[in-house]
Amino acid sequence: MAHPTLPLVVANWKMALTLRESEQFIRDAGAALDASAKNVAIILCPSFPAIAPVRDLLGQSNVGLGAQDLSWELSGAYTGEVSGEQLKELGCQYVIVGHSERRSHLQESDAMVRSKLHTALQVGLTPILCVGETRDQRLAGQQELIVLRQVRSAFDGLSLDAPIVIAYEPVWMIGTGEPVDPRDAQAMVQVVANELRAQYGDQRHATYLRYLYGGSVTKDNVKPFVRADGIHGVLVGGASHRPNSFTGLIHAVAEK
Ligand code: PGA
Repeated sequence: MAHPTLPLVVANWKMALTLRESEQFIRDAGAALDASAKNVAIILCPSFPAIAPVRDLLGQSNVGLGAQDLSWELSGAYTGEVSGEQLKELGCQYVIVGHSERRSHLQESDAMVRSKLHTALQVGLTPILCVGETRDQRLAGQQELIVLRQVRSAFDGLSLDAPIVIAYEPVWMIGTGEPVDPRDAQAMVQVVANELRAQYGDQRHATYLRYLYGGSVTKDNVKPFVRADGIHGVLVGGASHRPNSFTGLIHAVAEK
């Protein structure tokens, strides 16, 4: 599987929608999203229980599916966990790994995130690795240090030979309604890209890695992010939870 050449928009539905609301979302917006998928690669990441129903309602649509997390283990006695293989069976192509809400609320460590990244690749899912600094870390001027530490840890021992998406999500911007200055996001993505280019070489880097910005992206502010050199798309939380705001955002990306 190769990366799409189109701009990539990943919808992180978090725990915001019930199963019924998830299904209604597809009934309301599924056709519009499918039509837009000619110009924008769209990946929906519903909650686990909604993945199969959303897949069935999407039918032959070009809209892709992802999950919000996976277990770092392939299988076994891990109560409550969901494996990468199970996500593949459900029809997922992507999986979010190391989202800041999991790092903070569920104490996911860099080591766990690394295992999840490697496990996702092992089963053939494209990981969407989230990295980003907190407000305190930003105020202390440590953003590059923190994000590079997260990236180095996640890629430790990894031979880059399959697509990976990296989402730069400044934690202090998530859910606030105000994104960072797109030039700032671009600079941070550049820092990560330089690191991974040095590790893997230009060609592997260009073939396998794509970068997203995430944090309070809406239809009204998305364009400068997707126009920025080196940013290939966006990871969207709140603005992806309602059909109108999400289709509006997709249209804005398509027009960029
Ligand atoms: P937000 O969430 O768009 O609501 O800020 C982004 C995310 O958490 O991935």
